[in-house]
Amino acid sequence: MAGPDHKLRQALAERARAGGLRQLSSSSGGIDFCSNDYLGMARSNRLRTRIDKIRAQHPPASLGSTGSRLISGNSEAAERLEARLAAYHRAEAGLLFSSGYAANSGLLACIAGPGDTLVMDELIHASSIDGSQLSKARKLVFRHNDLDDLAARLDMASGAIFICVESLYSMGGDMAPLPEMAALAAEYGAGLVVDEAHSNGITGPAGAGSVVENGLEEQVFARVHTFGKGLGLHGAVVLGSKTLRDYLVNFCRPFVFSTAPSREHLDRIEAAYALLPELDAERERLFSLVRHFRTAIRDSSFRWIDSHSWVQCAIIPGNDQVLATAGRLDELGFDVKAIRAPSVSPGSECIRICLHAFNTGNEIDRLIAALENLQCADMSLQA
Ligand SMILES: Cc1ncc(COP(=O)(O)O)c(C=O)c1O
Repeated sequence: MAGPDHKLRQALAERARAGGLRQLSSSSGGIDFCSNDYLGMARSNRLRTRIDKIRAQHPPASLGSTGSRLISGNSEAAERLEARLAAYHRAEAGLLFSSGYAANSGLLACIAGPGDTLVMDELIHASSIDGSQLSKARKLVFRHNDLDDLAARLDMASGAIFICVESLYSMGGDMAPLPEMAALAAEYGAGLVVDEAHSNGITGPAGAGSVVENGLEEQVFARVHTFGKGLGLHGAVVLGSKTLRDYLVNFCRPFVFSTAPSREHLDRIEAAYALLPELDAERERLFSLVRHFRTAIRDSSFRWIDSHSWVQCAIIPGNDQVLATAGRLDELGFDVKAIRAPSVSPGSECIRICLHAFNTGNEIDRLIAALENLQCADMSLQA
């Protein structure tokens, strides 16, 4: 009789046949064009020094937080940090989560219920999709960044309505038209929920994000800022009204039923936020590398997603093809990753290139030349 393992083996074999098998690997030490450490915070000695200083001044009394926030894991430090993050991002209140995944999935699962509607961009992150599936609300999907399609879905929506978008899309690097979306949200009485995972620390004044950059703090219902990308750490904060914070403390299951962050982790987040306003040079450098990149691909033979951010993608349809390209780039000393189906829809497979303040123009030129050479070699093989 086939045991439960049989079913799992079958699913793995099927995925391998489609060229989409995910496997854990460590970096081969190539030039980093794939991590989310956009500002170099994870490798920053300035950040390390600040964290060490805080630790020396206030050694944590306990190694772990010992429980969920509602049992034994709360602290003045956690509440102080939340107030500080809320002020930084110009929100009324904030609530910490262990990850962006927990924040997005928990938030969407609890703010909308039966009779309500979640209206979501088709390219929204898996964490938001999973949250929508956990909620008992109706789900309507609109075409990526398409305002007319969004309005058409809003016409069909009922109950409490929430529009869910990312400020900067993780797979394509393009940005949502937030002011227009906020205007539509106001017209339909909907709450706008913005995931700022890939903009946190980079866009807006002192990296406060795209909602602040566009002056939309009052028009947005909730924001999710993660710490695992531009901040170089991990964790997230949900920002919104005091009522939203109270609601999440009561109804958001990943918050209620999960161990709170340790004091050491709170100190790291505190230190990273203290450093953020001093990183204008890093942000400027990143913006200038994006311009360099876009100029360098002007005559490229690849189809590039129209992105003006630190996430750039060359479409290479087919899991096998995109995987082979990433493998060859890896051999040439570039750490880039293939984004395959089912993470993206079939035909949209791509090489995703993440730029960092610590990359150089020369590294970018070499990477693009290597990509083009691979393309030429492929074409001459096919000829
Ligand atoms: C757009 C977006 N939202 C949320 C997340 C999840 O954040 P975290 O990695 O902190 O769980 C990610 C991570 O890949 C992301 O790209």
